[in-house]
Amino acid sequence: MVRETSLSLDNLIFPLFLVDGAGKKIPIDSMPGIFRFSEDLLLQEVEDCLKLGVKSFVLFPAVENALKNKEATYSYSSSNFYLRTIREIKKRFPESCIMSDVAMDPYSSDGHDGYVENGKIDNDKTLPILGKMALAQAEAGIDIIGPSDMMDGRIGHIRTVLDEQGYSDTSIMSYTAKYASAWYGPFRDALDSAPKFGDKKTYQMDPANKNEALIEAGLDESEGADFLMVKPALCYLDVIHLLKEHSTLPITAYNVSGEFAMLKAAAERGWIDYNRAMPEMLTSIRRAGADIILTYFAKEYALLLKQG
Ligand code: PBG
Repeated sequence: MVRETSLSLDNLIFPLFLVDGAGKKIPIDSMPGIFRFSEDLLLQEVEDCLKLGVKSFVLFPAVENALKNKEATYSYSSSNFYLRTIREIKKRFPESCIMSDVAMDPYSSDGHDGYVENGKIDNDKTLPILGKMALAQAEAGIDIIGPSDMMDGRIGHIRTVLDEQGYSDTSIMSYTAKYASAWYGPFRDALDSAPKFGDKKTYQMDPANKNEALIEAGLDESEGADFLMVKPALCYLDVIHLLKEHSTLPITAYNVSGEFAMLKAAAERGWIDYNRAMPEMLTSIRRAGADIILTYFAKEYALLLKQG
């Protein structure tokens, strides 16, 4: 009766990794229990999750190197397997909520989220590419566009492109305060998407900054974001709290790959009680102010609830 914070499956979004082909379920060494699925097995996984009460998913493509180039053109190509799978999921499971990833890195031969020119990320040359990517995803039936690239002005640009093309009902969850973090390591293993040179510090935020998160939030709100995200979650609970206090938009937190890997590794060694630590971690992110959590724990949390 007096518990202040709840943790329901309705609050969770489960990230899924997708590869081209058939019959593939490839483990990711640094993320035990998480796989790269081909479309057929991904559909099976979505169905299993829906039965458990997990209804929302965010999809990330692992693209083979031969399809990557400087302009990330495969991201909006009509032969793109990611877009094909989105169509298939929405056809088979219209009740599911599917979120995309908008950033150049899975498709970029430079491994960066933006367009690279003379060794630098060119913010403004990136925007039209992100616009094309987002439009292709909206056409495929995505419910929530998820720009994770951190270019300035991309929310406004994507919103305009979508509205002009008749996709005013497609919503945008902005990665608003995304930090240049060490906690993305296992994810980059999963997608083989690590930057080929340098780091992401010219577009992702300095972990030492908090006020800057408010600047980013103000821009995203004015450009038309429907949700604001803080990423990673655990080292940034204060930032989640800050955005929740300052915005009326739903706040999302991304409980990232390194946070997942850390808990899994400790549990595998018997150093921590996984079944208690995992819900405690998720509850603390909710308590800090996150309405929604992107988490690799979503399915296991659903299984835990089922076991009572
Ligand atoms: C890249 C992207 C990253 C993640 C989501 N989208 C990695 C990065 O910025 O390098 C990380 C997610 C995670 O670690 O779980 N656009």
